[in-house]
Amino acid sequence: MSQQILSLGMSRLDIPRILEIEKASFGSPWTEAMFSDAVEGARGTLGCLARTQNGKIIGYCIGQVVIEEVSIHRIVVDEGYRRQQAGRRLLQLLILKSTDRGARAAVLEVNENNLAARRLYETLGFSCVARRPGYYTQPSSAALIYCHQRLLATEENGT
Ligand SMILES: CC(C)(COP(=O)(O)OP(=O)(O)OC[C@H]1O[C@@H](n2cnc3c(N)ncnc32)[C@H](O)[C@@H]1OP(=O)(O)O)[C@@H](O)C(=O)NCCC(=O)NCCS
Repeated sequence: MSQQILSLGMSRLDIPRILEIEKASFGSPWTEAMFSDAVEGARGTLGCLARTQNGKIIGYCIGQVVIEEVSIHRIVVDEGYRRQQAGRRLLQLLILKSTDRGARAAVLEVNENNLAARRLYETLGFSCVARRPGYYTQPSSAALIYCHQRLLATEENGT
């Protein structure tokens, strides 16, 4: 397992590599413009990166804190680096930094068929609170809304 270095914040220079991972991971990838809030930290947006020891970006997580809730907008790990705890560590870091900014709860949506992501969220204490049938298209599938209502307990438990 390669060692990962996590950091808070993103710069414009990171965007080309982020887009590379994004395009390889999603049928409807975010565009460069959509990452600009994360780069600027605008509107409560937070971004975290995971890198190899050589500095290569292998994953990222983006959230937005609004009052006492953080919405997790993106979490992705480059395919060749999955199942090495980078996703878990990225999400934990984002949650920790969100609580520093006042978040007490977290919310996200996930494709019902995305079992890897669902398992990750469940192991971190998220639970499914709603299902939106047909939310995703081509192919049609449901979105599940996952919430975590006690982020501070997550921190205290160190999970
Ligand atoms: C979801 C994703 C970010 C997970 O990243 P990752 O670095 O591989 O995950 P981790 O190694 O940190 O896994 C943490 C836990 O999540 C669960 N998990 C992760 N991948 C899994 C898989 N393929 N199958 C089952 N469980 C999985 C496991 O419980 C795992 O713990 P374990 O390895 O100790 O069993 C990654 O699969 C990914 O980038 N997917 C494509 C993008 C995506 O779907 N993002 C989420 C959109 S909502």
